[in-house]
Amino acid sequence: MSTFPATRLRRLRQTDWSRRLVQENVLTVNDLIWAVVVSDTADPTEPVAAMPGVERLGLSALADAARRAEQLGIPAMAIFPHIDPAKKDEDGSEALNPKGLIPQAIRTIKDAAPNVGVICDVALDPFTTHGHDGILKDGVILNDDTVDRLIQQALVQARAGCNVVAPSDMMDGRIGAIREALELEGFTDTMILSYAAKYASGFYGPYREAIGSGTVLQGDKKTYQMDPANTEEALREVGMDLDEGADMVMVKPGLPYLDIVRRVSETYGVPTFAFQVSGEYAMIQAAAANGWIDGDRVMLESLMAFKRAGAAGIITYFAPRAAEVLSK
Ligand code: PBG
Repeated sequence: MSTFPATRLRRLRQTDWSRRLVQENVLTVNDLIWAVVVSDTADPTEPVAAMPGVERLGLSALADAARRAEQLGIPAMAIFPHIDPAKKDEDGSEALNPKGLIPQAIRTIKDAAPNVGVICDVALDPFTTHGHDGILKDGVILNDDTVDRLIQQALVQARAGCNVVAPSDMMDGRIGAIREALELEGFTDTMILSYAAKYASGFYGPYREAIGSGTVLQGDKKTYQMDPANTEEALREVGMDLDEGADMVMVKPGLPYLDIVRRVSETYGVPTFAFQVSGEYAMIQAAAANGWIDGDRVMLESLMAFKRAGAAGIITYFAPRAAEVLSK
């Protein structure tokens, strides 16, 4: 075993060149997926109060963002819709509108930056009056009825040119159902990134303001999202989604769940992504704004932590800023 003084671990740390030489993990722009909020009322942009630095983007601003992503080398954008409240209903019908905001946003990105991958959330919450991810009846979220809708939503996205559908709803059986429908319609190359281990978390707070579902959400999401106390269940969720045809899986939230990222990536050896969610972003930005932490430094440190835990990449609102800092 290594013993002092034959081994002095500080020897390798003494210079920049030796530190770089022995660095175990690297963070590059290729690890970043940019989370963006697109809106049908923002013109061209609207700030999100709880997420300083993040704006809801109208379609022209989204095109600019896509070009920026391409220039920076960011591989993909994940888009989340802020829908005009007048378009919401009990069943989230607007999610199935082939001329809706998301299909338009997909085409906008593809036109502006053909080489940027487009990832779309599959879930009903931005479109429902009650703010839940599924069909709500007598206080219960109906699993199978919701899955029927999610299949349609995923097909609408695939038809508009979405590269990756990302079910974030946590219904049982939706990955298999969506995969089957995609195959049947000839979308054999459309990828599925499953939000496989998604927890019922307070860290989503600012996101709900961003997409305008915060004030409307009735109750909580604990009957479909996971209990933050559980690990083994996350492995079962991921295992089932992989059996059903997921190409990639996600753990969400991110930093407080790095142990889950590690377990999932080691257990399955599949591309495992982590979502640095809105509340994680907001905490760093708020502390930085107060001068309590160095924002850029903590941003990069947090992103590196995901890589260290075994993540293939990170969905983050910091993507463009991180890409800029990394390129310096
Ligand atoms: C909805 C969805 C949520 C997020 C992404 N998709 C919120 C939720 O499940 O309540 C959270 C994103 C974030 O907080 O940044 N299906």
